[in-house]
Amino acid sequence: MNKDHQDMTLLDAARRVRENAYAPYSQFKVGAALRASSGAVFVGCNVENVAYPEGTCAEAGAIAAMIAAGETKITDIAVIADCPTPVTPCGGCRQKIAEFADGAACVTMATTAGVIQHTTVAALLPGAFDADFLPSQ
Ligand code: THU
Repeated sequence: MNKDHQDMTLLDAARRVRENAYAPYSQFKVGAALRASSGAVFVGCNVENVAYPEGTCAEAGAIAAMIAAGETKITDIAVIADCPTPVTPCGGCRQKIAEFADGAACVTMATTAGVIQHTTVAALLPGAFDADFLPSQ
């Protein structure tokens, strides 16, 4: 499978799971799909809550599904929403993605209308806080 085809597969998975997003407060449905190092795809959507800070992002759901399945490495991730320009992962999700991805990992950002942009984890989170800042164990 070539890279473009892989991107479309991931984006299609994100588009599909977005339909299940629970976003009654923002009305902003987001879908995310990630490919783990085994090649398996994990999906997530945003799940809001009446206590607003308890809501979770689509990316966090996809990461939780990956971890629950016993995988720990993200090779690519795609995010999609209905907005004028491709949706970008929020700051917290950038840190969550960086926990499990190399800086070179591809991030595909899309609109439901079909505008697609690609970037990398490193470009989304320059100067990332990582384990190198922690005292050695
Ligand atoms: N949201 C995501 O799920 N992912 C992002 O990267 C951006 C924001 C969700 C959170 C909230 O449910 C809604 O979009 C509006 O902020």
